[in-house]
Amino acid sequence: MNTKRFDYQLFSSQIIQWYQANPRDLPWRGTQDPYQIWLSEIILQQTRVAQGLPYYYKFVTAFPSVGDLALASEEEVLRLWQGLGYYSRARNLHFCAKYIWHELDGKFPDTYDQLLELKGVGSYTAAAIASFAFGEVRAVVDGNVFRVLARYFGIDMDIATGKAKKEFEALANQLIPKEQPAEFNQAMMDFGSRLCSPKNPDCPSCPLQQSCFAFQQDMVKDLPVKINKTKIRERSIHYYVIRCGKMWIWNRRSKGDIWEGLYDFPQAEENSKLEEAKGSSLHLLDRAKKIPKSYRHLLSHQRLNAVFSEVEVPEQHMQILKDWADEKGYHLVEEEQIDYLAKPKLIVNFLRDQGF
Ligand code: ADE
Repeated sequence: MNTKRFDYQLFSSQIIQWYQANPRDLPWRGTQDPYQIWLSEIILQQTRVAQGLPYYYKFVTAFPSVGDLALASEEEVLRLWQGLGYYSRARNLHFCAKYIWHELDGKFPDTYDQLLELKGVGSYTAAAIASFAFGEVRAVVDGNVFRVLARYFGIDMDIATGKAKKEFEALANQLIPKEQPAEFNQAMMDFGSRLCSPKNPDCPSCPLQQSCFAFQQDMVKDLPVKINKTKIRERSIHYYVIRCGKMWIWNRRSKGDIWEGLYDFPQAEENSKLEEAKGSSLHLLDRAKKIPKSYRHLLSHQRLNAVFSEVEVPEQHMQILKDWADEKGYHLVEEEQIDYLAKPKLIVNFLRDQGF
């Protein structure tokens, strides 16, 4: 990679100048509190600012300090996270808060290397917290930064590779000015997301246009190079919404599951539990009425297509249903309590259509 013919200092000062002229008033930018910055960075992993903002406000209001988060229950944390997806982020957040509170006496790790030790904190997040909260000179490298650097410096490495990540990190760490690490990192994030965006970059407004390799070579659309090897799996789910009067049967997702700790319904994928009930006086599957609308949901590696069947169990069978649910590890939940359960978005959407 020959990037030496570029003026690094000019690049960095122009990026920072652009940022100072186009400020964005984001709540985590007005603080140096590592807890609040960490919270914002975890929320913003895989999430756009506009979607993450309301969650940031909800979390800092409910848990203003790391101690408040540590002392909350996992149920509360997951419920507040509901709808944001990638729920391991919420579980890791809670795990780390407890660790910081109980094992580190509430003192937040204050160097890049120590921050990297936290569960759910990778090089990007550690660099962001270290630079924003502690002024450490560490460049952030995420999709935005890959894009800006690949275009400006004309780097055509496949950004999905570990080798590229190392090269881009090395370059970004050469570009970051020692006196303004936080400004530079914020600037790169904003420049990449607002101006040098993936689909319609605003090249006419770009202060770096004259020296940008991709612009000069008409390669803006071709850079960065990303060879996508992730296979998206199609998955069908058939849920059974089993109700008896005001009691509903819920399934708490177990360990190792992407939805661990969240609640959904018994499903045909684990058909045997429902099949067994077919033979009993419950006749669950025989009573099922299919709901015509199906629901699609996109996860990082899966495209889900869910259908739902409703099963009304007569109230005289309540005890049998309770025993059955107990034996199978399901939960009976009163209708009024459903709102307090943390649920995947797919289930929230279904309930909304059902008038809940
Ligand atoms: N994306 C990730 N971190 C961010 C931040 N601190 N500001 C804006 N966008 C971000």
